[in-house]
Amino acid sequence: MTAIRTPRLLLRRWRPEDLPAYAALNADPEVRRWWSAGVLTRRQSDAQAAKLQAHIEAHGFGFWAVEAPGVAPFVGFVGLQYVDAHLPVGPAVEAGWRLARSFWGLGYATEAAGAAVEYGFDRLGFREILAYAVAGNLPSRRVMERIGMRHDPDADFHHPDRPDDDPKRRHVVYRLVRNRPV
Ligand SMILES: CC(C)(COP(=O)(O)OP(=O)(O)OC[C@H]1O[C@@H](n2cnc3c(N)ncnc32)[C@H](O)[C@@H]1OP(=O)(O)O)[C@@H](O)C(=O)NCCC(=O)NCCS
Repeated sequence: MTAIRTPRLLLRRWRPEDLPAYAALNADPEVRRWWSAGVLTRRQSDAQAAKLQAHIEAHGFGFWAVEAPGVAPFVGFVGLQYVDAHLPVGPAVEAGWRLARSFWGLGYATEAAGAAVEYGFDRLGFREILAYAVAGNLPSRRVMERIGMRHDPDADFHHPDRPDDDPKRRHVVYRLVRNRPV
């Protein structure tokens, strides 16, 4: 895949020039509020971007860098990846998103995620794509709902890396099943 285009966005492979903007996004406590690790250093952020790009190279899909042509060369990432094996929802393909705060409230995440799941069904042949989030992460849950995912309460789980008393331990799972014949 070279890139996925939507009316306003381009989902593409990562470039070295994305790294400072990705590090700035990961240094924002508001963006990172759902992760127990909190904000990331530049080094951690760069390592994470390398891992995301490695998934794209290995599998032909992943959490792509998102560009808004004419607006900004990098606004965050959106895409599909294999669920981490230590989580109780896999094996599965998940949709995920993380945008810099200045690009929230514009519908970018929904626009990119809708295109990514369509690509997953039409081009990659997946039959189901899920997404999960900390139960309290309502903006992320709204993206799931806007792209047509449905909450599957039976699949909700407690994150294995979080202590019992952590209010961000409970995760909700949403699913989208391909509705067209293969
Ligand atoms: C999750 C996240 C990507 C959602 O971003 P978002 O901007 O709220 O989501 P969208 O891009 O779909 O935009 C939807 C908002 O834009 C508004 N909007 C404006 N123009 C729009 C358009 N053309 N189309 C759709 N929505 C539009 C919608 O009304 C909606 O606003 P509302 O939530 O106040 O009702 C963002 O909050 C984020 O990066 N959070 C930190 C990282 C994170 O939590 N990632 C997910 C971990 S599971």
